[in-house]
Amino acid sequence: MAIILGPTSDNIKIAAAKIKSGGLVAFATETVYGLGANAYDANAVLNIYKTKERPAFNPLIIHYSNLADIEKDAVINENFIKLFEKFSPGPLSYVLPKSKSSKVCDIATAGLKTVAIRVPKNNVALDLIKECCVPLAAPSANPSGSVSPISAKNVEKMLGDKIEFILDGGECKVGLESTIIDLSGATPAILRQGTITKEQIEKVIGKLNIHDENSDKAPKAPGMSLKHYAPKCGLRLSQQNPIKGEALLCFGKNIDTSGFDIVLNLSETDNLDEAAKNLFKFLHQLDEMNVTRISATLLPETGIGVAINDKLRRGAE
Ligand code: TXA
Ligand code: MG
Repeated sequence: MAIILGPTSDNIKIAAAKIKSGGLVAFATETVYGLGANAYDANAVLNIYKTKERPAFNPLIIHYSNLADIEKDAVINENFIKLFEKFSPGPLSYVLPKSKSSKVCDIATAGLKTVAIRVPKNNVALDLIKECCVPLAAPSANPSGSVSPISAKNVEKMLGDKIEFILDGGECKVGLESTIIDLSGATPAILRQGTITKEQIEKVIGKLNIHDENSDKAPKAPGMSLKHYAPKCGLRLSQQNPIKGEALLCFGKNIDTSGFDIVLNLSETDNLDEAAKNLFKFLHQLDEMNVTRISATLLPETGIGVAINDKLRRGAE
């Protein structure tokens, strides 16, 4: 069973030693918990794929603590600099061309000519990366296709028998994965919606594309076409004819909850940030409560509501 390490400097050294010797450590970030390995070590990264049962075509986000290190592995550009100054450290990941001298192993980037990079805004994560002296390849610390973990306990439940250490940094402040923007092509495009919205990004670099999964031309985040965010019991977007033991996952005031045995409200005060923070947390809770099914209502399609609805629709597919 995995050991949960509190965020002390001694424990960060223990976690870093594990990673430096080719092992895996799950660690807190501000978005969700990541499953980290040395991004330069192909065997270590291969082990991430095995542990998560992640398909090899789905590349990983590489986590750095500073810009100078990013420039060794990726080719940066003007839009990147503008966005980086505004949003990093923070919940934004950038897809950039991989540099010729990049040491990031090919398995981590699934053989692509691009690399996704991010600087997390969480001291536990940053201290760990610094102590490792290498960037960390880190997907969310869950088995492929299940809900991302937002606490050390969530990780323990899902991967506790497969990894040795979980570096605990408390509950994730954001609770949703980072927004991903592709800056490697002629036109910047959002590949994954998250807390940092299209509008916020457009204010800094101008008009953006949103990747349309049905188009072959647009750039892709390979992981996005998979069935993701699926709670084990099944999720639907209709409130008609609830069955016994069905839970309602709703948002806002004055909700009609009749017919549901369990009701979890993402935010009773219509607060979208609170809803984002609660989404994965509640999905994990409902899985643990063994509900028979989850019925979810969509949120207003504005700001971070767009990203939350995207996850709910994917979960219901
Ligand atoms: O918030 C986050 O981003 C979390 C924390 C741990 O940092 N990480 C995370 O990683 O969500 P993961 O592996 O669950 O999602 C990574 C996504 C996938 O959809 C993958 O396809 C995409 O990033 N991706 C990675 N490298 C890419 C690349 N070179 N081009 C396009 N998409 C890429
Ligand atoms: Mg994931």
